[in-house]
Amino acid sequence: MPPSAQPHIRPAQPSDKIPILAFCQHTWDDETDYIPDVWDVWFADPTGHILVADRDGQPVGMTRIVQLSDTEGWWEALRVDRAFRRQGIGRQLTQAALSLGQSLGLTTLRTCVSVTNTSMHPFMQREGFSPLGDYAVYSATASKGAPTALRLLGEDDCDRAWAAINRFVSEERDLLFVVRGAKWQTLTPANLTQFLAQGWVWGSFEGNTLASLFIRSHMESPDGTLWIGWLGGTASGVQAALNDMGNLAHQLGFNAIGGFLPQSETLTTVLKTTGYEFSDTSVYRLYEKPLSDP
Ligand SMILES: CC(C)(COP(=O)(O)OP(=O)(O)OC[C@H]1O[C@@H](n2cnc3c(N)ncnc32)[C@H](O)[C@@H]1OP(=O)(O)O)[C@@H](O)C(=O)NCCC(=O)NCCS
Repeated sequence: MPPSAQPHIRPAQPSDKIPILAFCQHTWDDETDYIPDVWDVWFADPTGHILVADRDGQPVGMTRIVQLSDTEGWWEALRVDRAFRRQGIGRQLTQAALSLGQSLGLTTLRTCVSVTNTSMHPFMQREGFSPLGDYAVYSATASKGAPTALRLLGEDDCDRAWAAINRFVSEERDLLFVVRGAKWQTLTPANLTQFLAQGWVWGSFEGNTLASLFIRSHMESPDGTLWIGWLGGTASGVQAALNDMGNLAHQLGFNAIGGFLPQSETLTTVLKTTGYEFSDTSVYRLYEKPLSDP
């Protein structure tokens, strides 16, 4: 039987793991793909949906949508087997991901693409995604001291923490925080309350006033880094927090502090003076697309 022209797109099944991880060995020329590190976690996660491009029983591509809230979703991991590229399968998977997002009732879908992945940026714009900004992974090693500026906030601090956040943000995208390693979601009073209850929020103060706020996030593949979910504040407040976050990391048993931070001129200068570094290959462009009703 001749192979069918276009694969069909279906949900992933257990038997896809071996062939998909096999072609993901060759995703990039000079970099290792992270899909093998996360496949089992992703497969078991009921909030995520892995889609597979199946050509006559052979998985030749994949992608994934994650539902982050009732209305916000994350699209990631678009992959096509090298032997089957430039045949429209990536576009077909993209359309399937967008349709699935709509049928889940999502109204906003976000994704990020490495700035070095040059062919993907025009593609993203053609698919209706708008760039929100560039983010780089910054990190510093944990220091050996105890925190002096950052204080753990509790559930009682919710109102003043939310008021402070709204003072610190100047545009909507500043309200986005990083969840599960590298997925962006809007910060709301409800998820702030949850983070406060988890003991994941610290603040630095000037007098009795919050001057900065740091919210922790978790990584899908933990590597001993205390991961930054959100950081904001006045210029001096952010500087104080960045200076102290290495101490906090040490106190919590991590060997480094790190996370995605926006590439803004002022923040970049503060990060440099407080000893944080980033690599040029860790810069990602965040995209957003509104989804309309199916
Ligand atoms: C990106 C990727 C999924 C595209 O899969 P594909 O099946 O080859 O994509 P399609 O054939 O549907 O092409 C879609 C569009 O992407 C762009 N594109 C894809 N590969 C390209 C390349 N090598 N050079 C230039 N443009 C390219 C083109 O605009 C193309 O449309 P066109 O053929 O009408 O010009 C595949 O190349 C891949 O797995 N790459 C490595 C992983 C990756 O970069 N993932 C995406 C970011 S996380």
